[in-house]
Amino acid sequence: MKHKRELVFVCAGSDCKKAGSKQLKKSLKKEFSEGEWKGTCKLISTKCMDMCKSSPLAIVDNHFIKKADHPKVISAIKKALDNQG
Ligand code: FES
Repeated sequence: MKHKRELVFVCAGSDCKKAGSKQLKKSLKKEFSEGEWKGTCKLISTKCMDMCKSSPLAIVDNHFIKKADHPKVISAIKKALDNQG
């Protein structure tokens, strides 16, 4: 798993922030910095992606994750990494 790498985008626009994207980024960052995830994922903040109705919005493996939360993002990453391998 170590050689695989996944980019994770989380919207940092104002609506998504209001909907909890800041908290989501914080918890993902923590998860990515330890254990089996170390060095596997890179977290990237984006500007508003014009999908504010679905906030907080994240993108994993070219797929939008609407109303994203920690478990949703993690399971999308797992799926993406499995597909790489
Ligand atoms: S603020 Fe996140 S999509 Fe608009």
